[in-house]
Amino acid sequence: MFTSILTPVDGSPPSDAAVKLAIAMAKAYKAKLLFLHAVAIPLPVHDAGGFAREQIVQEEQTRGDAILGEAMKLAKDAGVAAQTQLVGGSVSEAVLTAADEHACDVIVMGTHGRTGIARAVLGSKTADVIARSPLPVLVAPHLS
Ligand SMILES: Nc1ncnc2c1ncn2[C@@H]1O[C@H](COP(=O)(O)OP(=O)(O)O)[C@@H](O)[C@H]1O
Ligand SMILES: [Mg+2]
Repeated sequence: MFTSILTPVDGSPPSDAAVKLAIAMAKAYKAKLLFLHAVAIPLPVHDAGGFAREQIVQEEQTRGDAILGEAMKLAKDAGVAAQTQLVGGSVSEAVLTAADEHACDVIVMGTHGRTGIARAVLGSKTADVIARSPLPVLVAPHLS
C-alpha cells in the first residue's frame, strides 16, 4: 500500500519510535524510506550574543548528521535501504517539500520532540505537518 515513506527525525525518544515504525513499514511494504532533519537557520539578530551565525548553523548541522546517522544505522541493522536529507528552514516546510519531491505517500513522525512537554497534545511540528499535509500522517506512539 505504501511505496515511499518520509520520516522527519530530531533524535528524541518519540522520534526514535517513529524511526522504528517507519523501518518496520518499509520492510513490510518494500517501500522506499527517507529520513529528514531540518536545521533552523538563525536570524542575524542571534549574532548579537557573540556567536557567529555560521558556527550555530555548523553545530546544528553536525548534530543533524548524527541524528540521521543513528536512523540510518537502525535501518541498516534491519536490512532496510534508506536515504537521508539534511535541510535548512522550517520543519513543516521542509517535510512537505521533500514529500512532494520524493513522491512520498505517507509521513511517519513522532508525537513530540526534544523540546516537548509531555502534557501537550502534540508537538508543534507534528501539529503543523498534520494541519498542512496532503498526505496521510502516521504519528507513532511512544508511551507503551
Ligand atoms: N528539526 C526537525 N527535523 C525533522 N523532524 C523534526 C524536527 N523537529 C521535530 N521533528 C519531528 O517532529 C516530531 C515532533 O516534534 P515537535 O513537533 O518538535 O515536538 P515538540 O514541540 O515536543 O518539540 C518529532 O518526533 C520528529 O518526528
Ligand atoms: Mg521540537
